[in-house]
Amino acid sequence: MARFSNGADHVRRRALAVDALASVDADSLRENAFLRTRGIVSGRDVVDVMAEIARPVLVGVLAEALGLPDVSADVAGVAAAYHPHVAPGEAAEAALTRLVAACGGPTESAAARIGLLVQACDATAGLIGNGLFASLTGKPAEQPVLATRRRIDGADVTVSLAGTPFGAGPRACPGSRHALALSAGVLEALRGFRLTEGETTWVSSPNLRMPSALWVTRG
Ligand code: HEM
Repeated sequence: MARFSNGADHVRRRALAVDALASVDADSLRENAFLRTRGIVSGRDVVDVMAEIARPVLVGVLAEALGLPDVSADVAGVAAAYHPHVAPGEAAEAALTRLVAACGGPTESAAARIGLLVQACDATAGLIGNGLFASLTGKPAEQPVLATRRRIDGADVTVSLAGTPFGAGPRACPGSRHALALSAGVLEALRGFRLTEGETTWVSSPNLRMPSALWVTRG
């Protein structure tokens, strides 16, 4: 995928991802994220937004827009394992094999679509979690992705993203509009909810700042 490629490979693979995203309408993402979230919370008093809504909704909606079945569980498994410093286990390898099959076999176009879903997964869940936490507490929304990792000449390099939430330059995030639309749809559907008395916990990662659990209830 583009993210960990360099030179001509990066340019070609990024173009495939950008082309696939170009067919995805941001307004429909927002509407579908709203409807799916509404469906999940309907009849529920208390829900953990991070476990039950953020990733399943955003990945499910984006996958559908890319013409794929609901592969959200497999995308979440791969997203947790695809960074250069993590050794993927058997479960992540099996999830990736299923994703490749859902995309019609191992091609660069399949990798581009899987790359979009995997890139979208944690970062947009962070956007949703931080946006909701901020709107429910009145605190400023925090940036979910604090640093990015690249692979340069076989070495893993960490690049700080301070002040640039979606990156910059030739590798800047091509999905920022889509991410904001998905997040807006989820947050709109949770209007009127409030935090429960339970504690909000945060993921322990030097790269990500986002809740690991965010329990809300109807206001
Ligand atoms: C629909 C949701 C999203 C999609 C489809 C998406 C897709 C992508 C893709 C394909 C890349 C790789 C670009 C390349 O290698 O040239 C990328 C990079 C990036 N994305 Fe996103 N993304 C999404 C959401 C987000 C969110 C919510 C954030 C942060 C708030 C974010 C931050 C970034 C950053 C910082 C990079 C650059 C990484 C680097 O320079 O190494 N993305 N994104």
